Amino acid sequence: MRIIRSRTELATLVAQWRNAGETIGFVPTMGSLHNGHLTLVNALDGQATRRIVSIFVNPIQFDNAADFQLYPRGLEADAALLEGTGKVAVLYAPDGAEMYPEGFATRITVSGLDGMLCGADRPGHFDGVATVVTKLLLQTGADIAAFGEKDYQQLCLIRRLVQDLNLPVRIKPVPTVREADGLALSSRNRRLTPQQREQAPYLPAALRACIADIQAGKAVDACLQSCRENLKSHGFNVHYLDLRSGDTLLTTETLTPDARLFVAASLGDIRLIDNMAAA
Ligand code: PAJ
Repeated sequence: MRIIRSRTELATLVAQWRNAGETIGFVPTMGSLHNGHLTLVNALDGQATRRIVSIFVNPIQFDNAADFQLYPRGLEADAALLEGTGKVAVLYAPDGAEMYPEGFATRITVSGLDGMLCGADRPGHFDGVATVVTKLLLQTGADIAAFGEKDYQQLCLIRRLVQDLNLPVRIKPVPTVREADGLALSSRNRRLTPQQREQAPYLPAALRACIADIQAGKAVDACLQSCRENLKSHGFNVHYLDLRSGDTLLTTETLTPDARLFVAASLGDIRLIDNMAAA
């Protein structure tokens, strides 16, 4: 596995691959890698002849400077994990100046999808995501790129932007990978105190219970309200808990076949998100 830090070096290699008829699979990440990320790498088995994983903690998608500073980092351990898969040709790890040189002024906005759920909660976040993902897709020349359903809204937004900008890449969705106790794997989980780590699995458990209530025919509004209160009484600060269409992300009052339950809730200053199919 080669570690490449420069955009031009990556471009040279990608051009060589293209000439040799290789196809390129891509997994963008912010590092601090876990089994969820590795599942994305594995999801590209048989889909491309060369795989690139990027690690870049993207400053413009953080709405809070402290969150950016505290985001866990560890390039050596990440590189060892990727090397261990035996599947990754290149780890691309540009620095801030490589991605956003002096004078950088462009933002990509995916209208509508960016104003709800996490977008309402974190202004500017999805412009930052859309901008960096567009740059990374162009830099890597990816034919196929894998994204996790853990960040479901991000996945929807990327699909939209790829379609709207006619980017020649296929988007591969990957189901959420969970710990044995149900907690969705996340780099942020490393920042949970032992006590918060014990509380955290209550989040997916509450989602499952809420879905069971909705499926049993109880009124959606009442189910959501009692779930919010439940989470609050277990120490969570609930940012949103909504039943929405998995296609349009618009709220729904009834259990449509595409309905998903979406949550963002904090334990202390650690913000956790999750979502599950409800039908
Ligand atoms: P990051 O949080 O590092 O996630 C990278 C990819 O891994 C995303 O597609 C995310 O959905 C997926 N992922 C994370 N946890 C997962 C889990 N438990 N199960 C399945 N997939 C999981 O998402 C980002 O980085 C950034 O916003 C990025 C797209 C790299 C742009 O900066």
